[in-house]
Amino acid sequence: MTFFSRRKEDPRAPWNNDEKTVNEGSVDDGLAIPPCDIWHDDAPAQQTVTGELPPAPQDPIPPQDGSQCWAFMGAVGGVGTTTLAVQMAYELAKTQASKTPRGQRNTDPKVCLIDLDFEASGIVHHLDVQAGLSQDDLAGDPARIDSLYIQSLLSHHSSGMSVLAAPNMINGNAGVNPLTVLALLDAVCDAFPYVILDVPRHWQPWTAPALMGADFLGLVTELSIPSLHMTRAKCDQLSDMLGSQSSCHIIMNKFERRAFKSTLRLSDAETALQRTVLSTLCMDPDVTREASNCGTPVGHVRTDSRYAKDSRKLLELMTNKVSTDRQNINKYNTVAA
Ligand SMILES: Nc1ncnc2c1ncn2[C@@H]1O[C@H](COP(=O)(O)OP(=O)(O)OP(=O)(O)O)[C@@H](O)[C@H]1O
Ligand SMILES: [Mg+2]
Repeated sequence: MTFFSRRKEDPRAPWNNDEKTVNEGSVDDGLAIPPCDIWHDDAPAQQTVTGELPPAPQDPIPPQDGSQCWAFMGAVGGVGTTTLAVQMAYELAKTQASKTPRGQRNTDPKVCLIDLDFEASGIVHHLDVQAGLSQDDLAGDPARIDSLYIQSLLSHHSSGMSVLAAPNMINGNAGVNPLTVLALLDAVCDAFPYVILDVPRHWQPWTAPALMGADFLGLVTELSIPSLHMTRAKCDQLSDMLGSQSSCHIIMNKFERRAFKSTLRLSDAETALQRTVLSTLCMDPDVTREASNCGTPVGHVRTDSRYAKDSRKLLELMTNKVSTDRQNINKYNTVAA
């Protein structure tokens, strides 16, 4: 069985039983992970989850040249995380398609967008695709997940990206076997060079390992006092949990550049958050509504919209960030060897 294996020896993704991955946590701790067996009483033979985790990471750190995984999570609800994850996957797919050498057919999808909320998937509606994952798949034995199995679960959007998502179902996250989710992530990362995760803001047993395995974590927020409070708390807790190397990057969505007397400025937000904001995306209700009503990414319906332009700037920033991080890890490896 594999466990999001592309990162299993990377110290940013601690897999030993002492770390906060899929192990048991205190229920009093806001971000702790509840005991796995309460999530899937009916799941076959998964009660000893911690005992099955792979051994602790070994030195040296493996070279960082595999697939890239980018995660987006909302600091608050309704802040535009799914809209952004869909748009980023679209822009990335378009960029990758444009790199295909002339004369070669661009048939293989390069980007897979995964909705990690198995209770209220937004992606299936944003892209108007059928959900390929069933509750049986999610509760099943992780050992049966392989590349062929994954292919049968994917949906394909006309814009060129693949999608892995479950249908909306009340309490749908409760029956999920977290190890099966990690095996799915593993298999998708083996099959695609780029994987984008839409991570639910309510903590699930698979959230920590998914975030730890990601190359980039974008915490999406907006410019209001309650959102900033929640964003700062979440950032602090995530930093403690994931360690300094997996720090989250703040993305300010629904940002209005025109400053009125009573509105908060970006500098106010950065002071309140005690962090810099990586990027802003403009407030553009018309174009985002039109895109979701058409079941397609913003860049597909309005490629020259301000929102699409902002998202392309963010894409460039993220790409540079991930490639610098990877170069640093590889440099460290060379020096340490
Ligand atoms: N930049 C933007 N400007 C204006 N409206 C936006 C923007 N981005 C998203 N929206 C709108 O905000 C609403 C919520 O978007 P979305 O579903 O992406 O949020 P979410 O954070 O994923 O929500 P949830 O917390 O339920 O998962 C939608 O109506 C969407 O069109
Ligand atoms: Mg969403």
